[in-house]
Amino acid sequence: MAETRANPPLGGVDLHLEDLHLDRAGGRVRAALERALREAVQTGRLRPGLRLPASRTLAADLGIARNTVAEAYAQLVAEGWLAARQGSGTRVADRPASPDRVGRTDRPTGAAGDRSGPGPAARAFRYDLRPGQPDLASFPRTGWLAAARKALGAAPADAFGYGDPCGRPELRAALAGYLARARGVRAEPERVIMCTGFTQALALTCRVLADRGATTLAVESYGHQLHRDIAATQGLRPVPVPVDGGGADVAAFGRAGAALLTPAHQFPLGVTLAAERRTAAVRWAARTGGLLVEDDYDGEFRYDRHAVGALQALAPEHVVYAGTASKTLAPGVHLAWLVVPADLVGPYTAAKRLLDRHSSTTDQLTLAEFLTSGAYDRHVRRSRLAYRRRRDRLVAALARAVPAATVTGISAGLQAVVTLPPGRTELSVAAAAASRGLALDALSTYQADGAPAPEAPPSVVIGYATPPTHAYTTALARLTATLT
Ligand SMILES: Cc1ncc(COP(=O)(O)O)c(C=O)c1O
Repeated sequence: MAETRANPPLGGVDLHLEDLHLDRAGGRVRAALERALREAVQTGRLRPGLRLPASRTLAADLGIARNTVAEAYAQLVAEGWLAARQGSGTRVADRPASPDRVGRTDRPTGAAGDRSGPGPAARAFRYDLRPGQPDLASFPRTGWLAAARKALGAAPADAFGYGDPCGRPELRAALAGYLARARGVRAEPERVIMCTGFTQALALTCRVLADRGATTLAVESYGHQLHRDIAATQGLRPVPVPVDGGGADVAAFGRAGAALLTPAHQFPLGVTLAAERRTAAVRWAARTGGLLVEDDYDGEFRYDRHAVGALQALAPEHVVYAGTASKTLAPGVHLAWLVVPADLVGPYTAAKRLLDRHSSTTDQLTLAEFLTSGAYDRHVRRSRLAYRRRRDRLVAALARAVPAATVTGISAGLQAVVTLPPGRTELSVAAAAASRGLALDALSTYQADGAPAPEAPPSVVIGYATPPTHAYTTALARLTATLT
């Protein structure tokens, strides 16, 4: 139960108790405190250089354990929001992480929210092993420019006017073909809806669901806080369901209006939704009328086994399929696509028109050309190879230097979960990494509030795609030094 109290500013700092929605019952006071402090720094209420109350003082003001405050401070120091110096206490960092990082690490949100994404945040660290972004240095600039030149040169003048909310017809057709071929999606161009990133795709989906009367969204107990926040903002209460070696526990969906899943490669744990759970999920959807939302954020990057096809192929009338260019190309492209059941095309079109009329036409034309010319496939193939090598190097380095650590979730994607050697805590590892200029995310920062047991063992999530090639060797060396 959220507990709030109106009070004067804490310790002379412009931070009020009513800002801290401390969920004592859930035993997640530390996470709530971290989030409140992070937001206060992000929004500028706590200015760079400002000295925070001593942990003892803040703990007394809040009526919580001093250790809880100390651990929250340590985590925020590790993330770069706060700075601690012997003798001078804890201050707001001079160059705190950027607001957009909240999508990703902020319980994460992917302060990737995903990492939501490194801007200034990444610069606070020399080496970034947080998940959420591909190697931005490998963005195919030349091919993208060539595609833009060709597509924009050939486009009729009316292409530059206001467009169809669902997207450009060239791109919807190109994507329908690509998704059928590469991901096994049952896609007709008329069912493809273009969005500005999965973030918008999810917001639209929640809007459509809420309009149909849904009030809850089952979410995997580990995932992006940003995604849970988006659902809540659109009026859907996120209900965490357990995730085990077979993926999300479909039996726990209950009477949720919809379920948000990462079936090909659970984020961040990396497991695949088991075949029997896929069938069970489809049965659940057919029985309850609930919708399955398939976040296929990294489906192209599978290394060890044959590609795991899209869940959508099993039941196109019960699944909303979502893909994004954020991993295959870059988040800056800011394009994502949905393939929706036929009866939802109308509601999605209306919701998208209300939201922003349509996504950028010039970018859509460019992506359409990039796809049809084969440049997209070539780029994905090259990237898959490069990321596979990085993954292998990560696994080999850890096996050599930290044999007590186990690496999981590596058959696909751009992130791995590294279970810590006995005796190490996520906080101590994150802080030790930060002192080496290395950014990484503790697994617990991805856990949903009120998530059901069992909790995963202490682990860190390593995004091995993020550092540029020249920095990868040192990033790995700093990681192994941190863990030994
Ligand atoms: C689980 C998950 N879904 C989706 C996305 C892509 O989101 P967007 O398209 O908004 O960049 C990411 C990127 O980090 C992700 O980790």
